Amino acid sequence: MFDVKKIRKDFPMIQNHPELVYFDSGATSFKPNSVIEAINHFYCFSTANVHRGDYPIAFENSRAYDAVRGKVARFLNASEDEIVYTKGDTDGLNMLALMLKDEYIREGDVILTTESEHASSVLPWFEIAKEKHAEIRYIPLGSEGEVTMEAFASVMDETVKIVACTQVSNVLGHINPIKEMTALAHQYNALMIVDGAQSVPHIKVDVKDLDCDFLAFSAHKMLGPSGAGILYGKKELLDSLKPLYYGGDSNARFNKNCELVLKKGVQRFESGTPAIEQIIGLGAAVDYLSEIGMDNIHAYECELKDYLVQELLKLDNVIVYNPHTDTVIVSFSLKGIFSQDVASYLGSQNIAVRSGNHCAKMVKDIIGIDETLRASLYFYNTKEEIDKLVGVLKETTLEKCIDLFI
Ligand SMILES: Cc1ncc(COP(=O)(O)O)c(C=O)c1O
Repeated sequence: MFDVKKIRKDFPMIQNHPELVYFDSGATSFKPNSVIEAINHFYCFSTANVHRGDYPIAFENSRAYDAVRGKVARFLNASEDEIVYTKGDTDGLNMLALMLKDEYIREGDVILTTESEHASSVLPWFEIAKEKHAEIRYIPLGSEGEVTMEAFASVMDETVKIVACTQVSNVLGHINPIKEMTALAHQYNALMIVDGAQSVPHIKVDVKDLDCDFLAFSAHKMLGPSGAGILYGKKELLDSLKPLYYGGDSNARFNKNCELVLKKGVQRFESGTPAIEQIIGLGAAVDYLSEIGMDNIHAYECELKDYLVQELLKLDNVIVYNPHTDTVIVSFSLKGIFSQDVASYLGSQNIAVRSGNHCAKMVKDIIGIDETLRASLYFYNTKEEIDKLVGVLKETTLEKCIDLFI
């Protein structure tokens, strides 16, 4: 039984800021006690490096750290040898693009993506396209930034080598049809790379079912700490890649003749002391989310989304850009007021939303406006908090926003 009141007690940020309405979880989420305790345990009882020490605390720590790979694998329906620890979504996507470029991209090849991508999903490919004289091509998007299979099929051909697409846009919130897109991409022998930054925290993501080749995400948007993330890759593809980084822990042996034997499996990609406590924190976050159930989380978030959109649409002074969003990411603006000024005013009323282009700087061409307000909720939010936002928006005027700065 999904009980938001009970859930809210698990989050110190909610307990310590009872007046705050936090609608910026798309930027980063709050952390439950269990995650904080797991990280604290490392600092207070179990500080040691992993895979190096021969004493009990080092063993305990290595076990806790290694166990997260299995938790994440089960969470995504993957195998442990398909889960690479990274520093976050951006790290995973950049690392992957750099590892793939020489094998997969030749002059004239096409990298297919969308104009609703976050910078981290496209900028690595922009650089590679310049270097390799490849083409960046865009899937035409619907009026709310959604990908349809018709539009995808219309730009797909045998020159496409990579499809780099977000599963859920961080501005427009639609769930793109990744499973169907992957099937078509594979018919053309293209690789399907999915940015899961805004999907993995909110919906059940089953990589076997999607059949995507790679998927990246960050821990900090799904109740975990910053500085950790995951790159999922199909085993046979990961096995074929040359690591980007070299150093301790990833090698089995090397000698002065520059002969290097890397470890087998995903540890080949994990050189150097990792973000140990962050990965352990990610494991605790996965436990917490799994306990509640991703389907329950998504169902509750859909209720919140329907209510938020319904209430915003009642306001004459508000324009909603994605009323048909599939997740609880809603972009809107107030007629005649600069969004950052509205965000500052909302901030002064203890309501946290984000304003701007949300690191997805091409979205403006789809929705026809440079910057918006984004309310991005999570399953710890409530309808009462939505009422507070809507009540304040109703009363927000240009004069009140200007008064803030005088
Ligand atoms: C869709 C999407 N992709 C990628 C990122 C980058 O994530 P991170 O900054 O955690 O690496 C974000 C962050 O907002 C995002 O929303």
